[in-house]
Amino acid sequence: MKILVTGGAGFIGSNFVLNTRAKRPDVTIVNVDLLTYAGNLENLKAIEGDDKHLFVRADVSDREAMGAVFAAHEFDGVFHFAAESHVDRSILDATPFVQNNVLGTQVLLDLSREHNVGRYLQVSTDEVYGTLGAEGLFTEDTPIAPNSPYAASKAAADLLVRAAVNTHGMNAVMTRCSNNYGPFQFPEKLIPLMIANALEGKPLPVYGDGQQIRDWIHVDDHNEAVWVVFEQAEAGAVYNLGGNAERANLDVVKRILSELGKGEELINYVEDRPGHDRRYAMDASRALADLGWSPRRTFEEGLSETIRWYIEQRDWWERVRSGAYRDYYEAQYGSRLGV
Ligand code: NAD
Ligand code: TYD
Repeated sequence: MKILVTGGAGFIGSNFVLNTRAKRPDVTIVNVDLLTYAGNLENLKAIEGDDKHLFVRADVSDREAMGAVFAAHEFDGVFHFAAESHVDRSILDATPFVQNNVLGTQVLLDLSREHNVGRYLQVSTDEVYGTLGAEGLFTEDTPIAPNSPYAASKAAADLLVRAAVNTHGMNAVMTRCSNNYGPFQFPEKLIPLMIANALEGKPLPVYGDGQQIRDWIHVDDHNEAVWVVFEQAEAGAVYNLGGNAERANLDVVKRILSELGKGEELINYVEDRPGHDRRYAMDASRALADLGWSPRRTFEEGLSETIRWYIEQRDWWERVRSGAYRDYYEAQYGSRLGV
């Protein structure tokens, strides 16, 4: 079986590529990533030289470049992870979000259809549903109501997938997952940022009152669900995925400090994010009922394991923070890129 994975040098995508190569030896992966600031080939060091993993540096919104990739390979499936993914960056400049997330999705849908790809899977997010009050959960029937430019670009992409299913009869499925954490997460997101700052004795910036709630899921649980949905879901299906782990940001930050033996004086309350969604929480019962999937790790286990990873892999995030990770691409891959 041969699959296209986009964004496979980013956080979730690189974990997906590594786990898939480890657990599914029959699956060949063509990994297309533009290597934006968030793409890091050092994440894939463990599979260097693996002849069932081919890396291609390309922009998913570049129809010509992607056309060449689809022409060179016959894909049984497309897993579309690539995206601009950080809400705060989308507030500063939404344009790359429209280009990469919206146009990129349409290009992949068009090419998947032209080349009769067996199945297309869109990796989406709970953020398309907007925000919750103190009660209730997002279901797959909750109306789409994004609040940040990032969420709006993901919602637009979701609607293009829906349109491709209804108009062209495409065999596409979609996952909407809650906040992920785990190894290789770029240290601009809450959990790795707080761990790295605490380890360096730097202030931990908490937005507003820190009482915003996210539903945390370990990246491996998310990626296992992605395979389950790809293999079992009916065409056109959408599945919510969540960790059953609603936590207030401040509680997450305090737990990280306590596990690292650091004091709460490092907490620094800063101005809130504009349009900040107050609460996300997923009802993932459809995935359990239809597909038998539920997350396996508790948040507390997963967070401790992740904190240990960031302690042990200090070199990884120090190279990300210094920018040194960007040199690795040239040194390792320079002229050996495939299509
Ligand atoms: P990330 O920012 O860590 O990685 C994104 C990857 O996509 C990077 O390697 C980047 O180089 C690549 N990329 C960006 N634009 C590209 C383009 N035009 N062409 C090719 N590659 C491009 O993001 P992530 O956290 O790993 O998220 C992956 C996917 O999962 C995204 O679609 C995101 O919306 C979704 N998602 C993320 C979370 C989360 O908590 N991180 C939760 C739910 C869904
Ligand atoms: P983030 O990791 O950016 O994910 P998202 O905004 O997609 O949920 O942020 C998670 C939560 O943590 C969100 O409520 C914003 C908050 N946050 C902070 O309080 N301080 C920070 O420095 C960051 C990056 C996030």
